[in-house]
Amino acid sequence: MLPETDYPISITLEAASGLIHPCPNLVERHVSDLKAVFYDQSAAQRLISAGDPLVYEIRYYPFVTSKSDMAIAVTRILPGTVGDEFFMSKGHQHARDDQAEIYYCLAGEGYLLLDTLEGDFRAEPWKPGVVTHIPPMWAHRAVNTGHEALVYAGFYHLSAGHVYDRVEQQGFAQVAVRRGGLPVLMDRQQALQG
Ligand code: F6R
Ligand code: ZN
Repeated sequence: MLPETDYPISITLEAASGLIHPCPNLVERHVSDLKAVFYDQSAAQRLISAGDPLVYEIRYYPFVTSKSDMAIAVTRILPGTVGDEFFMSKGHQHARDDQAEIYYCLAGEGYLLLDTLEGDFRAEPWKPGVVTHIPPMWAHRAVNTGHEALVYAGFYHLSAGHVYDRVEQQGFAQVAVRRGGLPVLMDRQQALQG
C-alpha cells in the first residue's frame, strides 16, 4: 500500500481566467509588494497612495509525494502600468543552481524577460501557446503589454527556492514601457535617465 500522497492527482485549469480547481493557495501582489522593481519610483508611490491596486495573483498547487516536489503555479497579471512601465511580476532567480522551470503562456500578450544578472539578457515575445524553458540561474519576469490579463502556468520543483533580492537591487537590463501608445523594450539605465 502506497502512502496517500503517492497516488496520481488531477486538477483542472481554466486558461482564460487562470483559475485552478481545487485551489489550495492564492497569493496576491499589489504595487506596494513590488514597488522596488519599477524604475519610476514616484509613479509607484502615487499608485500606492491612490489605493495600491492589484498587479497579479498566483494560484498554485503542490504535487508533493514521498519522493518528489513538483508544483504548478498559474499567474494572472492584470493590464496596467506604473508610470509608463507595464505591470509585471516581481521576478526572481531560483536558489538552487540546478533548477530549471517551464512557463506556458495561456492567455494575453507580453514578454518573458530573462536575465542572468551577469550580462546576458533575453526577451521572449509571448502569446497564447508559447512554451519557454527557463534554464537554471536565469532570473525570470513576465510582463503584460496587452489590454487583457496575461495568464501563464509555471511548472517547477518547490525545492528550487525563490531569491528576489538580487533582482530588486539590480533590476533587469531592459524594461517594457509604453511609448507613443506602443510597447517597447528599452535599457533600464536609459529609462532611469528619462
Ligand atoms: C515559480 C515561478 C512562478 C512565479 C510567479 C510570480 O518558480 O517562477 O510561479 O513565482 O509567476 O512571480 P514572482 O515569484 O516573481 O512574484
Ligand atoms: Zn521561478
